[in-house]
Amino acid sequence: MSEKKAILKVDGRDDIELPVHTPTLGKDVIDVSSLTGQGIFTFDPGFTSTASCESKITFIDGEKGQLLHRGYSIEELAAKSDYLEVCYLLLYGELPNAEQRDEFVSTVKNHTMVHEQIRNLFNGFRRDAHPMAIMCGVVGALSAFYHDSLDIKDQKHREITAFRLIAKIPTIAAMCYKYALGQPFMYPRNDLGYAENFLHMMFGTPCEEYEVSPTLARAMDRIFILHADHEQNASTSTVRLAGSSGANPFACIAAGISALWGPAHGGANEAVLNMLDEIGDISNIETYIAKAKDKSDPFKLMGFGHRVYKNYDPRATVMRESCHEVLNELGINDPQLELAMKLEEIALSDPYFKEKKLFPNVDFYSGIILKAIGIPTSMFTVIFALSRTVGWIAHWNEMISNPYKIGRPRQLYTGETERSFKVLGDR
Ligand code: SDX
Repeated sequence: MSEKKAILKVDGRDDIELPVHTPTLGKDVIDVSSLTGQGIFTFDPGFTSTASCESKITFIDGEKGQLLHRGYSIEELAAKSDYLEVCYLLLYGELPNAEQRDEFVSTVKNHTMVHEQIRNLFNGFRRDAHPMAIMCGVVGALSAFYHDSLDIKDQKHREITAFRLIAKIPTIAAMCYKYALGQPFMYPRNDLGYAENFLHMMFGTPCEEYEVSPTLARAMDRIFILHADHEQNASTSTVRLAGSSGANPFACIAAGISALWGPAHGGANEAVLNMLDEIGDISNIETYIAKAKDKSDPFKLMGFGHRVYKNYDPRATVMRESCHEVLNELGINDPQLELAMKLEEIALSDPYFKEKKLFPNVDFYSGIILKAIGIPTSMFTVIFALSRTVGWIAHWNEMISNPYKIGRPRQLYTGETERSFKVLGDR
């Protein structure tokens, strides 16, 4: 079937014919890459209408509220798989068989420790530094430790980099927490599962055996799955852009961590809990809903809205169910959950939120489960970064293993036209 075409009509110019590419799922894309050669740019602040790349990893249908990883729905993966299997799926494109799974898990386990010098790096930070600031610095510093795998064109080098990042990021995350507490770092244990090991490094101490609750380990693993990847979001696009210059992959992931930190992105889970604290009581909800609707007020309802989802974020639905399950199993009656449920009910019945299709997103409920697991609010975005590392490295690997160009957007320039220099006396 011949490829579709688009005709661009611009006043005073000949018509420009552009190819239209048809995806396996989702919206057609108009290929505008030839336009610079024809003396015109497109303009799309925030890239809301721009497909920055071709990818086979994750598909999102914002209208349907659908999220697929290599064709598998997030609902099925959250219910039937585990995080390391999802890591394998994102990296290699297929779910592993038993032998592949065992080998993958074993390789990850053999890379969970960090170089002892990394432990010294922490001493450069204040104890009250935000853990995301520490994580940015420490992950970036990994680029100084692995000079044996710097040829990014070598698939084996890219693979060992992926293993090191997936394996070490929980160790580094837990170290960020322990450093803030002033407690000794816990070494990873190879007899524990991925989420179990993380919780052990977070809450265990050298003074006594620490038994990880299977309920909490399962909830933690599910949270890792729900945050693993999400197409070309701001932080993944940052990793791709940094990677497009051929930069060190550890430095590219550190760039992704920086982008994720913002409250409009991965920082929202921490912002949701702070917002619920600020609202305080169900009687104040209406006031905050009014603030969120007031254009002159910068306040936004944290955990609501999404650039792509104009329906329920499917991850929020799974998170909500998991929230009730975990709190019920732990016998926790969390007033913040009650408040969140009421806020959701009132917001979703409000014409403003309905008209603008603002639904709860992945961050709305995650904080409540993380709190139930015992994770402090300041560590919420660190957990998001831990989970998303596999998505970032999968996209980085997909880009580097295919033909790519350095990312170099242009601009709509509205500054001064050329003018002569004025000497000081004439200014
Ligand atoms: C993540 O991209 C991803 O995939 C991200 C992510 C991932 O997994 O990587 O899903 C993770 O970042 C989830 C989002 C977490 N952020 C928050 O919960 C912060 C609160 N949400 C908003 O900041 C906002 O919804 C954004 C940033 C998420 C999206 O912003 P957009 O693209 O501007 O949203 P929009 O274009 O759909 O907004 C439509 C309207 C706008 O008003 P108008 O200009 O049309 O008058 O709705 C308003 C927005 O101002 N609006 C909100 C709102 N979110 C959007 N108004 C009040 N409260 C909100 N939360």
